[in-house]
Amino acid sequence: MKSTVYIETFGCQMNVADTERAATGLRKAGYEMTASAETADVVLLNTCSVRERAERKIFRRIGEVRKLASPTRKRPLIGVMGCVAQLEGPSIFRNSPAVDLVIGTRATDRISSLIERVQDGEKSVIDLEERQEGEVWDVSPAERRSPYVAFVPIIEGCNKFCSFCIVPYSRGREKSRSAQEIVAEVLRLRALGYKEIHLIGQNVNSYRPKSQAGLEPYGGATPFSRLLRAVADTGTERIKFMTSFPRDFHPDIVSALEEFPNLCDWVHLPVQSGSDRVLKAMRRGHNSEDYLRRVEAIKTSTRRLSLTSDIIVGFPGELEADFEDTMRLVRACEYDGLFIFKYSKRKGTPAEKFEDSVTEAEKTRRFLALEELQESIQSRIYRDYVGRRVSVLVERQSARSAEDMTGHSTCQKVVNFRSEGTAAGEILDVLISQAKPYSLYGEVARESRP
Ligand code: SAH
Ligand code: F3S
Repeated sequence: MKSTVYIETFGCQMNVADTERAATGLRKAGYEMTASAETADVVLLNTCSVRERAERKIFRRIGEVRKLASPTRKRPLIGVMGCVAQLEGPSIFRNSPAVDLVIGTRATDRISSLIERVQDGEKSVIDLEERQEGEVWDVSPAERRSPYVAFVPIIEGCNKFCSFCIVPYSRGREKSRSAQEIVAEVLRLRALGYKEIHLIGQNVNSYRPKSQAGLEPYGGATPFSRLLRAVADTGTERIKFMTSFPRDFHPDIVSALEEFPNLCDWVHLPVQSGSDRVLKAMRRGHNSEDYLRRVEAIKTSTRRLSLTSDIIVGFPGELEADFEDTMRLVRACEYDGLFIFKYSKRKGTPAEKFEDSVTEAEKTRRFLALEELQESIQSRIYRDYVGRRVSVLVERQSARSAEDMTGHSTCQKVVNFRSEGTAAGEILDVLISQAKPYSLYGEVARESRP
């Protein structure tokens, strides 16, 4: 009998998608997937290295898994996959002797044979090689995290080399999947009953497939906006996409959203800073004016589009005046949601050489000030939803109350509501009666839309 495998996933949606693919391949090769590390013969940690804290968490976790041995059971075989694996490579074996296997970000297809080599007695098995031609992207529905919402990678890697960011090193160069393959996957998911598709990639709007096959019938100024139209044409109820890179954000994306109601009313467009000086040092390829022009296209759309963003505070050399520029930009953009990060130095990035000049205390102060500003803006935006209807995909029972269900709106807001016999997987209108800073609350609107 083959071994049981447990994959624990850290980090972004790309890692979630890789875990689903890895599990599909392992099951095909005869392995059984289990729901916890305690019952597994093989534990794979699918890791994130975007900030130092995420990376430290992995090494703590390896220590815990190592101790899962008991008098009746050997400790599980331990493998590290994902971004830490790709970046740290063989040094992981030196730092964590309990690790048996290191699986790079492009070896997702080869895991079963790597596990076999370890089981045959080989020490320190490692695969940091490139992807092979004809690679299988198939994900079995049984391995998907949700039976209603599916992540579909459209582009991998990143060519942008923002000076703070490790992703181009851990994930390699941009590589787009063919449109035909993407559309076929979306159609399969739709036939299986999936209600919502997230097209994912570090920069979805830099999508550039080798051939236009599959996109011919669709107009659009960029391959990505044509792909959006092609995917919308599958008739899938809800289609979301993230992340958009500001420099490549063509207004035709907004036109596509206006043409197809099943393209959801949400754009995630990370700005990172509001200071032109800092944006330049970050090598983002856009200044604040370029960014605000994109925002203008989104805000003046005929649809009310939600806008969210990421910001780093305390980038090397960020002065109080730069931070003030960021505060000003956030006031101007009126984001529906904002992820704020304190700058974290990453080995091997250009910014590693910049003097990390902002003290930890100052980073915290700026983080909290920005968070407070965002909360006041967001409260106002959320209050505006009271009395309005939003379309919600019901996901599960609310953790707070057994009488309530929870889900996301098309505009990516958490919506809780009185359950009234509704079931997970349904899409329904909720009339909002209460707004909290990070969620909405309401009742199911039974009567049809006016
Ligand atoms: N492709 C996306 C970002 C990927 S990383 C983009 O276009 O921006 C996700 C977020 O993590 C980034 O948007 C950034 O805000 C944050 N991040 C990345 N590297 C970081 C670092 N070294 N320190 C702090 N935050 C970082
Ligand atoms: Fe990172 Fe910039 Fe690419 S933030 S993922 S290098 S666009």
